[in-house]
Amino acid sequence: MKILIVGDVFSKLGRSCFERNLKRIKESEKINFIVVNGENTSHGRGLNEGHYRWYLEQGVNVITLGNHSYSNKSIFKYIDEAPNLVRPYNFPDNSRGKGYATVNYNGISITVMQMIGQVFMTGEIASPFLKTKELLENVKSDIYICDFHGEATSEKIAYGYTFDGAIQIIYGTHTHVQTNDARILEGGSAYITDVGMTGPLEGVIGVRKDIILDRYMNNGVEKFSPQDEGKTQFNAIIVEINDATRKATKIQTIKIVE
Ligand SMILES: [Fe+2]
Ligand SMILES: [Fe+2]
Repeated sequence: MKILIVGDVFSKLGRSCFERNLKRIKESEKINFIVVNGENTSHGRGLNEGHYRWYLEQGVNVITLGNHSYSNKSIFKYIDEAPNLVRPYNFPDNSRGKGYATVNYNGISITVMQMIGQVFMTGEIASPFLKTKELLENVKSDIYICDFHGEATSEKIAYGYTFDGAIQIIYGTHTHVQTNDARILEGGSAYITDVGMTGPLEGVIGVRKDIILDRYMNNGVEKFSPQDEGKTQFNAIIVEINDATRKATKIQTIKIVE
């Protein structure tokens, strides 16, 4: 089975770039299952219901979120009834939405979870390590996939080693920059520290660069706005899972600049 995982899709350019490349890759690579990080889909912050449905129409199986889960307030209208939508599992217990989704694919159960890091991240966040242990004990599944949404490379690498062999695909999101460390770990898990983003190439991780440069140089206060012009980047991974052993056999990175 081939699983395609696409990193943080950012605003207008991210959506067009996603749609264009997904069509092509789905056919050429014969993809069976698709997971996308959608936390920046709607104007760079959050995911509205129209965009959530737009993902499903294109065959996406599960959409994960992140620290921007609730940035677009319209999510509260539909998050509790959206079966394919996952926010970080280690958010406070009373948080809206859910931290994992189990999907049946041709008789194989696939559980996609999301954890958010504690290092350099804000908010009330429980240990992603302890919460993952708890989830794995309570939710039985043939295949597990984890989107680790974190800033620190060290935390993600430590997490990868901790759950090597227990979670078939462990991948990072949130930094929006693809790392060059994709590999199969000793216990058989496919791992990458960050998949990278899908959207504008020319901004600063998606945001118009003049706004960010002005902040650093002149204490600028202009509100963040997406970079909506120029070249795009599509960043993703494809992981192959052996249907019989249910182990990851191959991880391949994709980076397309257009
Ligand atoms: Fe993001
Ligand atoms: Fe994020």
